[in-house]
Amino acid sequence: RYRDQSAGDKMNPFAEQEAWEDHQIGKATLKFGSKNKKQMSDDYQFVFEDQIEFIKASVMDGDKFDDDGEPSELVESRAKSALEKLQEDRKTLPIYTYRESLLDAIEKHQVLVIVGETGSGKTTQIPQYLHEAGYTKRGKIGCTQPRRVAAMSVAARVSQEMGVKLGHEVGYSIRFEDCTSEKTVLKYMTDGMLLREFLGEPDLASYSVVMVDEAHERTLSTDILFGLVKDIARFRPDLKLLISSATLDAEKFSDYFDSAPIFKIPGRRYPVEIHYTKAPEADYLDAAIVTSLQIHVTQPPGDILVFLTGQEEIETAEEIMKHRTRGLGTKIAELIICPIYANLPTELQSKIFEPTPEGARKVVLATNIAETSLTIDGIKYVIDPGFCKMKSYNPRTGMESLLITPISKASAMQRAGRSGRTGPGKCYRLYTAYNYYNDLDDNTVPEVQRTNLANVVLSLKSLGIHDLLHFDFMDPPPSEALLKALELLFALSALNKVGELTKVGRRMAEFPLDPMLSKMIVASDKYKCSDEIISIAAMLSIGNSIFYRPKDKQVHADNARLNFHMGNVGDHIALLKVRSMKRARDIRDQLEGLLERVEIELVSNMSDNETIKKAITSGFFPHSAKLQKNGSYRTVKHPQTVHIHPSSGLSQVLPRWVIYHELVLTTKEYMRQVTELKPEWLVEIAPHYYQLKDVEDALSKKMPRGEGRAQEG
Ligand code: CDP
Ligand code: MG
Repeated sequence: RYRDQSAGDKMNPFAEQEAWEDHQIGKATLKFGSKNKKQMSDDYQFVFEDQIEFIKASVMDGDKFDDDGEPSELVESRAKSALEKLQEDRKTLPIYTYRESLLDAIEKHQVLVIVGETGSGKTTQIPQYLHEAGYTKRGKIGCTQPRRVAAMSVAARVSQEMGVKLGHEVGYSIRFEDCTSEKTVLKYMTDGMLLREFLGEPDLASYSVVMVDEAHERTLSTDILFGLVKDIARFRPDLKLLISSATLDAEKFSDYFDSAPIFKIPGRRYPVEIHYTKAPEADYLDAAIVTSLQIHVTQPPGDILVFLTGQEEIETAEEIMKHRTRGLGTKIAELIICPIYANLPTELQSKIFEPTPEGARKVVLATNIAETSLTIDGIKYVIDPGFCKMKSYNPRTGMESLLITPISKASAMQRAGRSGRTGPGKCYRLYTAYNYYNDLDDNTVPEVQRTNLANVVLSLKSLGIHDLLHFDFMDPPPSEALLKALELLFALSALNKVGELTKVGRRMAEFPLDPMLSKMIVASDKYKCSDEIISIAAMLSIGNSIFYRPKDKQVHADNARLNFHMGNVGDHIALLKVRSMKRARDIRDQLEGLLERVEIELVSNMSDNETIKKAITSGFFPHSAKLQKNGSYRTVKHPQTVHIHPSSGLSQVLPRWVIYHELVLTTKEYMRQVTELKPEWLVEIAPHYYQLKDVEDALSKKMPRGEGRAQEG
C-alpha cells in the first residue's frame, strides 16, 4: 500500500520535503504583524533566562479528595503526590520556559496574539499563569474553545492540576450545561457561550482577561467574538485580550487587532515521515482500518490516531477493528480502541487520556476534534484519510447541509504534526502526493463564509448592532448570506420591514437555539402547547443520538424505534414520546426557565397533535416539501429534490406534505425529523411567505371533497 519502507525516504521526494524540522527550544520572539514590521524595535525582542522560579500553584484544600471515606491523611498524601507529579509535568511543557516573558508581554500590551504548537500548553497553562500572577483578583479569566468536548476536558485537566474540584475555582460553560459557581475564576467555555454572555453583560465587566483560543479554527462564533472583543477593548483599557492559535498565520490576527504584537512559543517538534498512497483509495474507511492493523502488527510501539469524519464512521470502524482483532486472538498484542467525538458520553471521554498499558497499543478513532483542540500523549502514528465533515450553505436557496469534504493542506499539516509531539512520528495519508499538492486548498474557508447567519444576525441585532454590512468582520460573509438571514428573520417575524427587532424577535433571542426552533417555542404560546414544544426542542437539540442503534442489535433497536411511531404521528411527536434521556431533560429544564423569562406560560396539550404541529410549522414553515409522483419530495420555496430519511417513521408512509427539521446529504439529499402537515397551514401561518398559488393544486384537489385531510395516499 505504501512506498517501500526499507527503500527509505530518499526514494520518496515528498517524505524528505515534508519531514518536519527538529526545532530546539530557541529564543522566543515577540514581533509585530506585517503592517507594522518597521516598528519592530529592540524593545520587543525578548531574551529569556533559562530557569525561572516557579510560582507554586495554590495549595489544594485537604477535603477535596476524601469522598470515598478513606483515612484523610492517607488520601491527602496520595492526592498530594499526584498533585506534585502534575506540577512536575507542568514544568516540562514547552510554554513553561516562557512563563515570565509571556506574563511580561501581557502586562505591557492590551492585546496579544499567541502562537504555539498544539500541546505546548497554551490552553491549560496560560490561564493558570495569569491566575498565579494575580489577574483573577480583578475579574474572571475566560478562555473560549470552539468545541464542547475540549472546553470540558481542558477544564477537568486544569482543575486537577490546581487540586480543586471541577466547577469550583475552575469551571466550564457549554450550551445547556453550566459547570461554574460563584467561586469560579478560570472559566473555559465554548465561543458560542461567550457570545451569549455579551447579551447579559455587553462590556464583559466581570472578566479581567479574555482568551480567544484556537483562533485558527475560525468558527462562526469566534469570528463574531473577534469583532465584539475588539470593540470593547477600546473602552475597557483594563481588559486583557489574548488571541491564541496553533498555526503560523498569526499576522492576519495581528493585522486585524490593530497590529497587536505576536508572541511565539517555539515548539518541540520531532521529524514526521509522511507517506502517501500510490493510487487514490476507493474506500478510505477500509483503508484506514487496514493501515491501523498493519501498523499494529509491523511497527514499533506507539499509539495510533485515525482521523474520521463522524460518529457513525467511528462506530463502524470500531466494530470492524474489534471483529478483525478478535479473529487474530492472542497472535497479536492487545489493541485498545478509543473513540472520541462530540456526542460521546462524558464518562467515556476520559478513556483516551489514560496511559496505554505496557505491551498494548492504543488506537484513537477521532473526529477533527483531535486536530488541534485535544492533545493526546503518546501518539506516534497518524492516519489521515483526508476528509472531514463540513457545513456548507447555499445562500441562494438558504439550504444548509453537512458534507464530507476534502480537508485543506493546513489541516493535513496539523494532523501530521500530532504524531511528532513526543518523538519522531509517521503520518500515513490515504491519498496521493499529487492529490495533496494539486487538489487540496491551502486553508479551510472560515465558517462565516459557508453558513446560515440567521442566528448570528439575531444575536447582533439584540446587542444593538444594526449595520451588519459594516460589522468589523475579519473576513466578511457573502452579502447574499447576510440578506438571506435578514429575509428569514423577517419571515419568522423576528424583524420588521426596516430590519428592527420585534417583540417576537426579542423573545426569540433569549433562547440559545436556532431561530426556527426559538420561533417554534415562541409560537407555542399561541397554540397553548409550550410544554410539549420545549420537550421537542430539547430532543432536537441533543442531536442525532436519541435512537441508539448498536451494530449488533439493529433489528431490536429498529423495532423499539417503530413503537414510538404508532399511528404515524411523525418524527417530531415520536421524539416527544422518548423524552427520557437525562440531557434532554436538563435542556428542557433550562428552556422552561427561559419560557418564564419571556413570559410564556407552561401549558400542556398532549391530546391535540394538530396544535403541536401548527406550533412546529410556525417555526419551520420555510422547510416544507411536497410529495412527487415518483415518491421523492420537492421543497416548496426553492424547488429541490429531497427524500425522507430512512430512519424517519414516515419513510414508508410518504405523506403528501411535510415539514422537516434539517437536510443531510449522504447518498441523496435527505430530510431528517419529518412531520406531516396540511398545506393550508402554510398560508394560514405564514401568509407573507406562501401565496395561495404555492399550495393551490393541493387545495383545489381536496376542497371539492370538503375534507381538509392532508394525507391522501
Ligand atoms: O493548548 P495547547 O495545545 O498548547 O496545549 P494544552 O491543551 O494546554 O496541553 C498541554 C498538556 O496538557 C498536554 O501535554 C496534554 O497532554 C495535557 N492535557 C491532558 O493531559 N488532558 C487534557 N484534557 C488536556 C491537556
Ligand atoms: Mg489548546
